Amino acid sequence: RPTIIFDTDPGLDDAVAILALLGAGEQIDLLALTTVAGNVGVDLTSRNARIVCEWAQRPDIPVYAGCERPLLRPLVTSEHVHGRSGLDGVPLHQPEMPLQDKHAVDFIVDTLREATPGTITLCPVGPLTNIALALAKAPDIAPRIKEIVLMGGSYFAGGNISPAAEFNIFVDPEAAAIVLRSGVPIVMLPLDVTHQVGASSARIARLHALANRCGPLAADILISHERHDVQRFGANGAPLHDPCVVAYLLQPDLFKGRRVNVEVETASPLTLGATVVDWWGVSGRPANVLYLTEADADGVYALLTDCLARLP
Ligand code: BDR
Ligand code: CA
Repeated sequence: RPTIIFDTDPGLDDAVAILALLGAGEQIDLLALTTVAGNVGVDLTSRNARIVCEWAQRPDIPVYAGCERPLLRPLVTSEHVHGRSGLDGVPLHQPEMPLQDKHAVDFIVDTLREATPGTITLCPVGPLTNIALALAKAPDIAPRIKEIVLMGGSYFAGGNISPAAEFNIFVDPEAAAIVLRSGVPIVMLPLDVTHQVGASSARIARLHALANRCGPLAADILISHERHDVQRFGANGAPLHDPCVVAYLLQPDLFKGRRVNVEVETASPLTLGATVVDWWGVSGRPANVLYLTEADADGVYALLTDCLARLP
């Protein structure tokens, strides 16, 4: 079973991912949540991460706050999708569980240094700032990371924050470049995958019908998320991004892709944050990513629904 650190910017779809992760129980060894600025500022993502843990009655999960802004650029947020709170559309409370004292980056570095090499997987589902800073601060951790399984990037599907770029990569392209060149094995779940896994009304209805509190809550979160995307995606439902990482950890054979070279654009104003995927191997550059492009959508929803059903 994977031992992971989940790096997140909740965020509506992040919240569903965290719920699924907590619902997975013994199947995933979750060391901590680390938070980053992205969908909203890091104060809010750190608050929201703790709210989600409390929904699942898991105040024991350590939550470490991370970077306030990208490495080089001013923060770009996405209140247009997630609302001003980062979790608009569901009732929020002031969490009681504490934030940990340590900075997320130091937690990541210290944990990797203390663990047996090759045992910890990093799972970033927001901008890659914390991961890049950890790699810059402590390059010795790179060979100790088992792999990085991330939600981010897009190639065949086009961009969602610009015509060329996916949000997580766009917000901190320099961080993405550091991660992509780190030599750590990387699995990417880009928009090419997440757009195939639509939150259709039938799938949302199955969550609503769960007899617990968290299932219907997750359904409401997806409905709130969908409000912003439904015009473009119609009956298939809005894309489901971050929960795909959890589905991949639990059942990688739900996804298909190719080992390829991926680089990120950090200079052009027109295509900033675009992930350039050498799908046909024409560059001669070595493969650095397992780039996923296909998902068994029914399988993903069945799995996530199972996880959510196990929560209170
Ligand atoms: C990604 O951007 C964020 O808004 C979502 O939480 C997801 O991680 C999708 O592009
Ligand atoms: Ca996210």
